[in-house]
Parts: sequence; structure tokens; C-alpha cells
Amino acid sequence: MAQIEGAFQRVARADELAEGAQRLIEVAGQRLLLCRSEGQVFAVQNRCTHDHEQLAGGVVRKCTIVCPYHGARFSLKTGAPFGPPAFEPLDTFPVREIDGHIEVGTAPTGR
Ligand code: FES
Repeated sequence: MAQIEGAFQRVARADELAEGAQRLIEVAGQRLLLCRSEGQVFAVQNRCTHDHEQLAGGVVRKCTIVCPYHGARFSLKTGAPFGPPAFEPLDTFPVREIDGHIEVGTAPTGR
């Protein structure tokens, strides 16, 4: 059961998300993708900004994710696309690890 604490929501135990792994989560009614890459945990919207397909299942590598539909690659750190076919960034969400748990902010970074 998810636990809400301030503007963050507890979504998983840290040891449940291995390097390169991903998991679909729901935070404040938003479907997000939680990923671990190079030891860091990221949370991004699960909809590609190209054609609005799901990013889940895309390859996570070197703090990027590749959309499984048409190959757009995005930074997991900033959400920025690296080039066509996507031009708009993904929403990214703040992530913190506390007491062995991963918590995700309920609002996108920078809003
Ligand atoms: S839907 Fe993601 S690249 Fe087209």
C-alpha cells in the first residue's frame, strides 16, 4: 500500500529496483515509470511525447530511456529528447530514497 508523506509518495523498497530495471507506478493519479540507471532512480511520465505510446518496456541505459515504438531517446535526468521523432521533453518527478524506500514527488520537477 502506498504511503503519502508530504509532497512525496512512497512507491517501492529501494532493493526491489535493480540496476536497469523499471516499474510502473501511480503517483497522485499519474501513471509514471520508475527506473534505475547508473545507481540513480528516476521517475518520468509513462507517455512518450512523440505519439503518446507507453515508454514502459523501453531500454534503460546510461540515464536514458529509448521509446519502444519509434526509438526516441530521452534523458531520464531532464526528460529532454535527444532528437527526432520526439521534440518535447518528458515530465520528470523528484525522487528520494529514505530508510530503504523510494519516494516520488507528486508534482513534476520545475512546477
Ligand atoms: S511513440 Fe515514442 S517514439 Fe513514437
